Amino acid sequence: MSDTITYDVAAVRARFAALATNDTIFLDTPGGSQVPDAVRAAVSDAMRDAAANLGGTFATSQRVAEIVTGARAAAARFLHCSPDDTIFGQNMTTLNFSLSRACARDLKAGDEIVVTRLDHDASVSPWLEVAHDTGAVVKVVDIDEATATLDFTNLEAQLSDRTRVVAFSWAANSTGTLTDAKRVTALAHSFGALAWIDATHAAAHVHVDVEAIGADVLVCSPYKFCGPHLGLAYGRPEVLADWRPYKVRPAPSDPVARRFETGTLPYEQLAGLTEAINYWESVDATGAGHAHARALGQRLLDGLPDDARLIGPPTMDGRVPTFLLAFADRDATAVAETLVANNINAGASDSFYCMGLKDLIGDRGALRIGLFHYNTADEVDQTLAALAT
Ligand SMILES: Cc1ncc(COP(=O)(O)O)c(C=O)c1O
Repeated sequence: MSDTITYDVAAVRARFAALATNDTIFLDTPGGSQVPDAVRAAVSDAMRDAAANLGGTFATSQRVAEIVTGARAAAARFLHCSPDDTIFGQNMTTLNFSLSRACARDLKAGDEIVVTRLDHDASVSPWLEVAHDTGAVVKVVDIDEATATLDFTNLEAQLSDRTRVVAFSWAANSTGTLTDAKRVTALAHSFGALAWIDATHAAAHVHVDVEAIGADVLVCSPYKFCGPHLGLAYGRPEVLADWRPYKVRPAPSDPVARRFETGTLPYEQLAGLTEAINYWESVDATGAGHAHARALGQRLLDGLPDDARLIGPPTMDGRVPTFLLAFADRDATAVAETLVANNINAGASDSFYCMGLKDLIGDRGALRIGLFHYNTADEVDQTLAALAT
């Protein structure tokens, strides 16, 4: 299989010094992607040109204002929402805790929150804490263990007129399972519940459109898709308007999403975020780049060694190109070490923070291989050769 003619992976790679200047094979992208040079430069330039805060008439403060406005516009293009409805924060986990706290102020004992076994714990523990404090009940949707896909029959059985929130991961950072988000949000809404989407893994692999999928809240982390370390959320304004925010009094209250941004934003990261989204748009990663990564995923699936047990969807259907592998007679950490010895970055874990999958993974742990639009067919072949040793 060769790279498609409409997508020039070499030209894409040339935009990353980290890819051009060393021969490491980066398969650890689910933990954080490599960063294009333009993003790095934007962060650095902002620290030189915009070391100030908002509100001044002097040039550095005006530059900060431009950076924030530019980042909101870029984030809005990425999420398909209004710039007014974007919320920036430290990372997905911190944003999810703070938004769930605000939502929880209206919850009562016996209200129900539905999460799933495929979720990263950042999509679960905030609700466990809410349940602890309010008496709400957290219900966990099961999966089909053979394919690690969401059991929709079980989801429907868990929904009730007490359901207030359905929180789920659009794509699982562990197994790569891609859940039909629109179907989940429609079910949540049919019970009058909020659809609360963790798009942290999905945003690196699929086109995000909060309106099209019916998100009430959507949370993600730009460092998973070529940006700097920060968190990004969308909140439907009609939903946010009902919540009492934890905020300091002089901070802005309008538009409503601003109430949920606490303190000074990371302006230099926001400058980088704008460049990351510009980059993403320029390589058409939502089209050709994603197709390229999926083709690499098929190549990997076709060549897996016999002792590898794939935990997750068995084909490229219903998944992103992230693969979780357990081995019959090998500890995953030992396999990861073999890869590292071959300059291949991939990690092993007993959960990858998906606590609902620990039993499926088992005692020997699992290796995660994350393919991204900047990987190559040759890198997949080298990985398969290293896995076979
Ligand atoms: C699916 C998913 N959700 C949530 C998180 C947490 O994101 P953050 O590190 O930005 O808090 C991660 C991080 O790996 C993730 O992969």
